[in-house]
Amino acid sequence: MSGKVLRVLYIASEAGPFVKIGGLGDVAGTLPPMLSRLQPADTGGWKIDIRLVIPYHPAIAQKFDFGKPILTLNLHRKSGDLAMDVYQTDVDGMPVYFIDGDLITRAENIYNFQPELDMPKFAAFSFAALELAKQLDFQPHILNANDWHTALAVYALKKKRRWDPFFRGTRSVFTVHNLPYMGSECKPILQDYGCFVWPHLQLPKWGRSFAMPLGLLSADHINAVSPTYAQEIQTPAFGCSLEHFLARRSNRISGIINGLDYQDWNPAIDPQLSQNFDVDHLGQRAANKLALQAEFGLAQDANVPLIILISRMDHQKGMDIAFSALRLAVDEPWQAVILGTGAEVIEEQARQLEADFPERVKAAIRFDGKLARRMYAAGDVILLPSHYEPCGLTQLIGMRYGCIPIAHAVGGFADTIQDDRDPADWTGFLFRENTPDMLAEMLHVAFSIYTQQPETWQAIQRNGMRQDWSWKRSALKYLQLYLDVGKAGVP
Ligand code: GLC
Repeated sequence: MSGKVLRVLYIASEAGPFVKIGGLGDVAGTLPPMLSRLQPADTGGWKIDIRLVIPYHPAIAQKFDFGKPILTLNLHRKSGDLAMDVYQTDVDGMPVYFIDGDLITRAENIYNFQPELDMPKFAAFSFAALELAKQLDFQPHILNANDWHTALAVYALKKKRRWDPFFRGTRSVFTVHNLPYMGSECKPILQDYGCFVWPHLQLPKWGRSFAMPLGLLSADHINAVSPTYAQEIQTPAFGCSLEHFLARRSNRISGIINGLDYQDWNPAIDPQLSQNFDVDHLGQRAANKLALQAEFGLAQDANVPLIILISRMDHQKGMDIAFSALRLAVDEPWQAVILGTGAEVIEEQARQLEADFPERVKAAIRFDGKLARRMYAAGDVILLPSHYEPCGLTQLIGMRYGCIPIAHAVGGFADTIQDDRDPADWTGFLFRENTPDMLAEMLHVAFSIYTQQPETWQAIQRNGMRQDWSWKRSALKYLQLYLDVGKAGVP
């Protein structure tokens, strides 16, 4: 790594602002530009030349025009060569490349949950990303791939660097955002691209030619999106039956918490709020609560605890646990506003809760980023009963907006929410067992502090608002990881 320039090829299936389905899009859209902006004064003299590569999904092509392709890649396959066009733009001077081709555009959605569409699509993308580096003569020190979609680039890199001097110095960091999504069987595809697949006896039988396990197997380093999740994936409860395999590689597994964009998420200047406020003017916050109550036709009362739920409605997020807990806690005074979409059964449960408690529960079954901001500024607590949560973003936003998280003590929640020692030091409430009873009990604890110890309540709000979960903090940790993995010189 001469001249103190670190070259990083960062590849992902999605990245904001181009395309964003979930948290991965936030990370891939924010971390690489942040790394490229780091100044030598912060990095011990390092300059990071990072390039982001994502597929040219039809959804991107509909919204952006990047002009003509900068080059066409030609991928060799036994079944016939594959031509893929590459488009380029930049984000604050950081180059971003988009890979186009029939396998990428033939499916309408970014993720189709159909192996026969998604696996060839992301396999072609992964092989193309490596080929692109070569065509650009951009010899990366680090390849950072993310989740199963780009796992095959990690696998192919390990093979290629045995015989291709171009990649001899490249080490891989494979970031796990969500372990249960494994991709699918890909042996025939790998063989088509000329990769002989060994039996890989280290892996459980089902996973020997699945994308995610192959990425985990070939990575020089595995990086989870929180230190606790890095530990959890080595246990039966969260390891998706890869826990033994992962535990044997624990010296190559660590975790870095994602950041929050503190400029974008700032209650002092957020234009969506009825009333801006900051940590020194918490009293002004109440106006947002009264406004939200009015918006939803709830009784306007600054003193009744207002609970918010903002979440994708799928099994991971445990919304059903929250709904049951609210039913158990019905003797306490509270109001609740629910926002989100997803699985029909969960949406229906939310509607039913509203129907059963029309005076106190309102459910907005939609995606609404502006409403979410008004809710964070208005709510007293946000409920986060995820069964597992690799990192999570909503607890960070809640804390930033003075809306105290009540969360299952897993993954990123456990790493970012502090509930040790004296309540005046807390930033939220963590519960250890994800059941409606336990959550109802936590609501009871929280509401007693809320009504009987308002000063402690405000201390918890302020502690949360003063946290630093900025992207810069995370980016510096990624840099350190890249330097460590680069130095390790794994064969
Ligand atoms: C996944 C995880 C979430 C994490 C995000 C970004 O969506 O479920 O916890 O915050 O990836 O890393």
